[in-house]
Amino acid sequence: MKFFVDTADIKDITDLAETGMVDGVTTNPSLVAKTGANFFDVLKDICAIVSGPVSAEVTATDSDGMLREADKLTAIADNITIKVPLTWDGLKTCKKLTSQDVMVNVTLCFSANQALLAAKAGATFISPFIGRLDDLALDGMQLIQEIRQVYDNYDAIETEILVASIRSANHVKDSALIGADVATIPPNVLRGLINHALTDKGLAAFLADWEKTGQSILS
Ligand code: E4P
Repeated sequence: MKFFVDTADIKDITDLAETGMVDGVTTNPSLVAKTGANFFDVLKDICAIVSGPVSAEVTATDSDGMLREADKLTAIADNITIKVPLTWDGLKTCKKLTSQDVMVNVTLCFSANQALLAAKAGATFISPFIGRLDDLALDGMQLIQEIRQVYDNYDAIETEILVASIRSANHVKDSALIGADVATIPPNVLRGLINHALTDKGLAAFLADWEKTGQSILS
């Protein structure tokens, strides 16, 4: 499963990219607003750090406007992926852009039928928002399961399932168990994936025993 990092924070992206775990980045208008920085500057900076897909969301709601915005955004770098909302205008835009070999991430997906529409529009990625479903006491993971099953029923579907709105390490593990293609993960959740008390305890014991030998590997 590919890991995208779900942030527009350059410091977090730089830091996590150094771990070799970052295959791409997703941004949205709320994440960009949080940085307080210029959208184009942020995207340029991110694309200079990460060579994989970097999602940049349009803000127009009509297809012509989305296409005009997409033109400006794709000029930033080759790895810009245009993010469009799951509306008829978004799907129309998706169809046009993907037929011109522009990568498109269809966002704000909350049902398997919506995911099917995005696949038929040729989406590169579909972004089902699992955390926002869980917030309403619905089952985000069940949606991922359903989309996986629907997509696997049809060889012609190449759209990748990009699990979004991830809130926990369990969301990441369950996405991988289901066979989602990508998880876009907030920096704090990504950093937390490594944690295990037995790893810390085991390492402390090994180091303590090594200390007792009085040896050094380098001398
Ligand atoms: C990413 O593409 C989505 O915009 C993001 O994961 C949404 O996350 P949220 O539901 O925590 O805002």
